[in-house]
Amino acid sequence: MREILEAIQAGAGGDELAHLPIPPSYRAAFVRREDTDMFSGIASADKDPRKSLHVSDVPTPELAPDEVYLAVMASSINFNTVWTSIFEPLSTFAFLDRLGKESAWGKRHALDHHIVGSDASGVVLRVGSAVRNWKPGDRVTVHCNHLDDQDPSAHDDSMLATNQRIWGFESNFGGLADLAVVKANQLMPKPEHLTWEESAVNGLCASTSYRMLVGRHAAQMKQGDSVFVWGATGGIGAYGIQLVLNGGGTPVGVVSSPERVKLLEAMGCENVVDRAAEGYQFWSDENTQDEGEWRRLGKKVRGLIGEDPQIVFEHPGRSTFGASVFIAARGGTIVTCAATSGFMLEHDNRHLWMKLKRIVSSHFANYQEAWNMNRLIDQGRIQPVMSDSYDLVDVGEAARTVHRNEAEGKLAVRCLAPSEGLGVTDPEKRERIGEDKITLFQRHARGEL
Ligand SMILES: NC(=O)c1ccc[n+]([C@@H]2O[C@H](COP(=O)([O-])OP(=O)(O)OC[C@H]3O[C@@H](n4cnc5c(N)ncnc54)[C@H](OP(=O)(O)O)[C@@H]3O)[C@@H](O)[C@H]2O)c1
Repeated sequence: MREILEAIQAGAGGDELAHLPIPPSYRAAFVRREDTDMFSGIASADKDPRKSLHVSDVPTPELAPDEVYLAVMASSINFNTVWTSIFEPLSTFAFLDRLGKESAWGKRHALDHHIVGSDASGVVLRVGSAVRNWKPGDRVTVHCNHLDDQDPSAHDDSMLATNQRIWGFESNFGGLADLAVVKANQLMPKPEHLTWEESAVNGLCASTSYRMLVGRHAAQMKQGDSVFVWGATGGIGAYGIQLVLNGGGTPVGVVSSPERVKLLEAMGCENVVDRAAEGYQFWSDENTQDEGEWRRLGKKVRGLIGEDPQIVFEHPGRSTFGASVFIAARGGTIVTCAATSGFMLEHDNRHLWMKLKRIVSSHFANYQEAWNMNRLIDQGRIQPVMSDSYDLVDVGEAARTVHRNEAEGKLAVRCLAPSEGLGVTDPEKRERIGEDKITLFQRHARGEL
C-alpha cells in the first residue's frame, strides 16, 4: 500500500493508479469470530473494544463486477463499531454468515474475521467490469447502504430492499482499513474543501439525520418547526441540529455537561437543556416511569420556545422514549432510529393517541438522501462535526471513547492518511466557507472555544 500512498500523495492520475498492483493483503481493523464470547458476564459499560479490535494484515478479497477497490485515506468510528466490538446485541458474524449464503460474491464475506467501519474517504484504485460512473483516481466519500440493486424491492426506496445492509457492520471489508471493497452505488464525490478526515466522518451519521428530518420517508420537517434533539452534540444529533437550523426550524438541544452546552450554543442553538444539571429521572425504578419527570421536561421546553416540539429526534431509547412521546406536540412526530440505552421501549399510549401523535421509524438513508446530504456538506451549508482523529492502530481506543460517551461529534480514524489536515484541494472554497465554522468541533475539543 506504500507505493499506492506515495502515488496518491504525488498527485498521480487515474491511469497511473490503475496500473499499480493491488497488494495481496492489507492492514485492517477487525474482530475475530473466536472472540465472540470474550466478554460473557461483563457489564456492557465495562466491555473494552481495545481488547476485541485487532489491527493487522488480512487477505485482499476478489473484486465483484459492481465494486471498486478504494484506497482508504480516513474512516470514522460509528456506534455500530462499538456494537460489533462488544458483540452486542449480537455477534455480527451472524450477519456475515447470512450474506455468505446469498450469492457467490456474498460468500466472500463469511470469514472468521470481520473488518469493520461504515465510513470512508479515499481514492478509487480499480473498478469492476460493471462500474460505469466512477474511475481510478476519483476522490470520493462512501455511504454505507449496501444492497443488491437487481432486487425489485430496492427500486422504490432502497432502504426497503429485502437485502439492505449496513456496509462494514452487516457486511465485511469495511472502511477501518487501508483498502476497502465498496459497491459503486455507495460512492459520492469528496467535498474538495475538506480534509480526508473531515470528509470521512459524515456519510453514516449525517445521512441518517437527513432521512430522519428532511427526506420524504420520516419526519419531513417544515420551515418553522420546532425540533427537540437528544444527544445534540453527538454523532447524529449534531447533524440534526444543523439541519434544523439550515431548514428554518427551531432546535431544542439536549446535552449532559456545561462544555457541551457551550458547544451547542456556538453551533447557533439557542435553546439548550443540560439533562445532567436538571437531573431528570424518567424511571423511578427499573419497571416504573415517573410522569412527573416527563411533565417537568415538557414545561422546561415550553419555557424555552413557548410551545411543544413538532418533532422529537429520538435515539437514546428506553431511558427517554416515554418522555419523548409525552413532550411531542399534538399531532407531532417522534422519529426514532436507535435505542442506545435499551430496545424494549415503553410509553403511555394515551398521550400518543389522544393527541394524535405518530411514531416514525427511520434507518440510515437511501443513495439519493445520502447524496443530497453530501451536497449540503459540499455547499458548506452543513459542517463536519469531527472533534478529533486517531491513527488506525489506535482504533480500539477511539471506539472505547465513543462507547464511554466521552467525545463530542465524530471521531475520525486516519488509515492511509499519514497526518491530519491533508486532502484539501480547494483552499479558496474552504476560506470562503470559513475555517472557524468547519473546525468548530476540533477547536472545542482543544479547549479553544
Ligand atoms: N439507524 C441508523 O441508521 C443509525 C445511524 C446512526 C446512529 N444510530 C444509532 O443512534 C445512536 C446514537 O448514535 P451517535 O452516533 O449519535 O452516538 P454518540 O455520538 O455516542 O451520541 C449519542 C448521544 O446521545 C446522548 N445519550 C446517550 N445515552 C443517553 C441516555 N440514556 N439518555 C439521554 N441521552 C443519551 C449522549 O449525549 P449527552 O450525554 O450529551 O446527552 C450521547 O453523546 C446509537 O445507538 C447508534 O447506534 C443509528
